[in-house]
Amino acid sequence: MQFDLRDVQFVTPIVPSGYELHPWDSKLLAAHAEAKFRSFRNELDANVFTCLGNSDGCLRLMREISCRQGFIPEATWLATYRDPKTGRIENCGTVQGIRESVDVGSIQNIGIVSAHRSHGIGSAIVLRSLQGYQQAGIKIVTLEVTAKNVGAMRLYERLGFKVLRTVFKSIEVSEVY
Ligand SMILES: CC(C)(COP(=O)(O)OP(=O)(O)OC[C@H]1O[C@@H](n2cnc3c(N)ncnc32)[C@H](O)[C@@H]1OP(=O)(O)O)[C@@H](O)C(=O)NCCC(=O)NCCS
Repeated sequence: MQFDLRDVQFVTPIVPSGYELHPWDSKLLAAHAEAKFRSFRNELDANVFTCLGNSDGCLRLMREISCRQGFIPEATWLATYRDPKTGRIENCGTVQGIRESVDVGSIQNIGIVSAHRSHGIGSAIVLRSLQGYQQAGIKIVTLEVTAKNVGAMRLYERLGFKVLRTVFKSIEVSEVY
């Protein structure tokens, strides 16, 4: 799917009470990895990308993404939730941005922990990330989503992503990451 950022003006999304979106900071690497692991461990994608199904794999993946030459800090966001009763802060969502070429960026592994879904956090974090791509001078943002992931497809289409093409892939689990 792809999103054309040209001529789009974003309004900074508002998140529900208790939630906060944090821009990238290298000190948040482990927090992103934790949110990624907790978001994906029981999901379809963890069967395909095995690293998403274990916490060490998510930490390695976050290190690898954040060290890539094309890493876009502005498009990388962490969502947290502060429990009003205990004050405990939970890492509950993550998205990372990568530059594929001068004008094109790709969204990596957007995930919201299941207990925090359907509160608009997924939409808000993607919008924040799209704003970040725009600030970084990116014109087109792409992402890959499994056609069976209907919830994610609905979210992207609602936000304005268009289906670019359908690719049929046979994946050797051991070859991925
Ligand atoms: C896909 C994913 C990121 C969506 O996150 P989310 O936080 O639930 O997304 P949102 O809350 O913005 O939207 C989800 C639904 O909640 C609804 N919603 C949004 N704000 C809401 C609110 N304040 N109150 C009630 N419902 C709300 C949306 O309309 C949407 O409805 P829909 O399912 O009918 O389309 C999440 O399901 C996820 O992490 N899945 C597992 C990982 C994954 O597959 N990632 C995508 C890889 S490509």
